Amino acid sequence: MSETLEIKPLTERIGAEVFGVDLTKPLSNSHVQQIHDALMAHCVIFFRDQAINHEQHETLGRHFGQLALHSGVSGIEGHPYIVKIHGDADSKHVAGERWHSDLSCDEEPPMGSILALHTVPEVGGDTLWTNMYSAYDALSPRMKVYLEGLTAEHNGEIIYRPITKEPNRVFPISNHPVVRVHPVTKRKCLFVNRQYVTKINELSRQESAAILDFLFDHCEEERYQCRFRWKPNSIAFWDNRCTMHQAVWDYFPKTRSGYRVTIAGDKPIAA
Ligand code: SIN
Repeated sequence: MSETLEIKPLTERIGAEVFGVDLTKPLSNSHVQQIHDALMAHCVIFFRDQAINHEQHETLGRHFGQLALHSGVSGIEGHPYIVKIHGDADSKHVAGERWHSDLSCDEEPPMGSILALHTVPEVGGDTLWTNMYSAYDALSPRMKVYLEGLTAEHNGEIIYRPITKEPNRVFPISNHPVVRVHPVTKRKCLFVNRQYVTKINELSRQESAAILDFLFDHCEEERYQCRFRWKPNSIAFWDNRCTMHQAVWDYFPKTRSGYRVTIAGDKPIAA
């Protein structure tokens, strides 16, 4: 393995494939730094042919922060930080079908997520990511001024209550700035998403609904996106602070399966 990784962008704005590293082996400090830099530059990065086991998956995540427990669903047996991502002929829904940033309902939403899929359909099952810096940058100066200082409610109850098998579990509901500053890059980005956000707190119901409709449509425009075609043992590592993603469930009744870890983040800082 060469010390310098090869980073090939997928689009001008978001996404890059990383070559020259074996994630089943211990990572050098230089490789950890290059992976981190690639993530900051491209917001989501991809690796091919990485048949990692659960321990290697956790170790990979821990290079970039503490692992976070999923606040909506339980981890797998023996590995509380790993959640299963699975769809097959018996599925009634799959994770992440609507545009979202993972667990934005948490008080301190995760910094990143690492998804490794071992089984994928021959066609379909792609994942899309969108760049929330670009979505913010493209707003008019007047709209940027209007949004600064507003906060949105991110509600985990509405997502996890209908699917939980744990009736006593409480799911987080948190308020976060609509425009946040990324703690590493210091760039401003939008932080709202169709899955968790129910309202903008400082606006009337009608105004909130209209502004959110506009922002969701705007952030989901194709020009800010990349689309990843999975193969068995592909890995995606994304920054939840400046992206949203959507898993396309177009492969029913085929099987798509793997595991995800999330890396702890901090409380979003308002612009
Ligand atoms: C998710 O983490 O939201 C699921 C993404 C995917 O299955 O592609």
